Amino acid sequence: MKKVLVINGSARKGRTFELLKNIAEKLPYDVEYIHLKEYDIKDCLGCEVCKKKDFCVIKDQAEELMEKLKSADGIVLGTPVYIENVSGVLKKFLDRTCRWYHRPPLLGKPALLVATTAGSSLKKVLQYLEDVVTTWGMIPTGKIGKRVSEKRVVSKKQIKKFINAMEKPPKRYIRLTKLIRFQVQKAMATNLLDIDKNYWIEKGLNKKKLPLQILYRSFLILIFNFIWKIHFK
Ligand SMILES: Cc1cc2nc3c(=O)[nH]c(=O)nc-3n(C[C@H](O)[C@H](O)[C@H](O)COP(=O)(O)O)c2cc1C
Repeated sequence: MKKVLVINGSARKGRTFELLKNIAEKLPYDVEYIHLKEYDIKDCLGCEVCKKKDFCVIKDQAEELMEKLKSADGIVLGTPVYIENVSGVLKKFLDRTCRWYHRPPLLGKPALLVATTAGSSLKKVLQYLEDVVTTWGMIPTGKIGKRVSEKRVVSKKQIKKFINAMEKPPKRYIRLTKLIRFQVQKAMATNLLDIDKNYWIEKGLNKKKLPLQILYRSFLILIFNFIWKIHFK
């Protein structure tokens, strides 16, 4: 049976966990809950050894958790909004995945993003989570956010895209912002460190073409034609 890691980035088993549980109960997969707070995850030292040498000098449970993410078929990642951002517990773990920004290991795996808030920053935090998992190589399949006044219950429709992607990798048509993000990641990976370059070549990422959503493509063609007519005709 396929496995989904459900990650609770809250400092407690509160509203975020309640929402995550509601989602997990609707998933036809083997679910493992991760309460980040229960893991021994230390602050990143900023030494960048992981980036250059592919291992971390800190001995704690970050590596164990990263291996769990790698062996799962998909993840549901949840956080409360803390001071307009993700929780510190989650951010600490995200910092420790620094080398995944250079050598994304979770290629094509679906991710569902979840956040709870008293009122503010839901959109911003969910977008941040989407940016992170995209850079890890994952396919974001939805964002679910709830304010404290709302019931922490999801409909089957809200998780359908995630389940579909778990069953069959979807044809991806991406937005311009995602394409730019990927191109920047590629430029960094293939020009700065050999360890990154070799990884991108090995995984065929250097040759990967990401198709733009039709709306964005049409928009770009229009702009291009407009500039062409003004300047070159
Ligand atoms: C340290 C801290 C910071 C918070 N910052 C915000 C915030 O910036 N905006 C907001 O709307 N709610 C904020 N909240 C409220 C939480 O986002 C909200 O209660 C959330 O549902 C808590 O999730 P939990 O029960 O999983 O811990 C904050 C709560 C805490 C404890």
